Amino acid sequence: MSNSFAKDIDGKAIAACVLEEVAADVRELALHGVTPALAVVLVGSDEASQVYVRNKILRAEQAGIRSLEYRLPNTTGQAELLEVIAELNADPLVNGILVQLPLPASINEGVVIHAIDPIKDVDGFHRHNVGGLVQGQEVLTPCTPSGCMRLLEETCGDISGKHAVVIGRSNIVGKPMATLLLQAHCSVSIVHSRSVDAAALCRLADIVVAAVGRPGLIDASWLKPGAVVIDVGINRIDTPEGSRLVGDVDYASARAVASAITPVPGGVGPMTIAYLLKNTVIATRLQRKSALMEKI
Ligand code: GUN
Repeated sequence: MSNSFAKDIDGKAIAACVLEEVAADVRELALHGVTPALAVVLVGSDEASQVYVRNKILRAEQAGIRSLEYRLPNTTGQAELLEVIAELNADPLVNGILVQLPLPASINEGVVIHAIDPIKDVDGFHRHNVGGLVQGQEVLTPCTPSGCMRLLEETCGDISGKHAVVIGRSNIVGKPMATLLLQAHCSVSIVHSRSVDAAALCRLADIVVAAVGRPGLIDASWLKPGAVVIDVGINRIDTPEGSRLVGDVDYASARAVASAITPVPGGVGPMTIAYLLKNTVIATRLQRKSALMEKI
């Protein structure tokens, strides 16, 4: 075995390509007099959410997507939020709706997610889209897993037949990620907090996707030599030098064993926003198609 270090998977560069594709799609839609519009709803003052929302809006505008921002106070009730969603659902000039999570504890996230019209659900969290994804239909798919698949495609090419291990089973990342890997013809295992010897299962993987929110949990001892590692974790930790962002993977240790790895930051993070905007274009096209079908 060579003792060279893993190649860094450059999420910033790949996201820039995706954003160019989105901008080209937006120009094509403009020829038909259509400007895709994304509504972003933020309830409360969670600091991380404010940063995410600001970035989403900035990138949308750079890609030529119209953005509408709804900032609602912490005291907003569920009924009030549902009214905003109903208005956005009914507005033909709004193509995508994103409600930033987490929501204040007084609001039921499930109720809110399922109030969004599935054809405008650019997060891909509505059960209509979740079910459609499992059945391989043309639906809106969650942004982070879609971005991870693109990173894998750019890094490995065809991943058919590979053994992929997804660490974490959240609705936002773990479960849809496993589904997308299965569609790409991988053998897929999901490892989680109740797994017996998660590290041993992970050592069987050609592809590891870590999405557990535990800083540095996965180190070299979890990896088969040559594995490709996608680190979805974004954890802020305090160090004597100040606070910094780290992934779920112990990058320094893992890069001595893996063949390719995403850094944090600069790996998966930029892809999530890029795929949100791609989904906004896809939603716009699906809505145009559905409007045409209604006329026939
Ligand atoms: N909060 C953290 N990640 C996400 C995401 O992908 N979508 C939404 N809506 N909220 C989030």
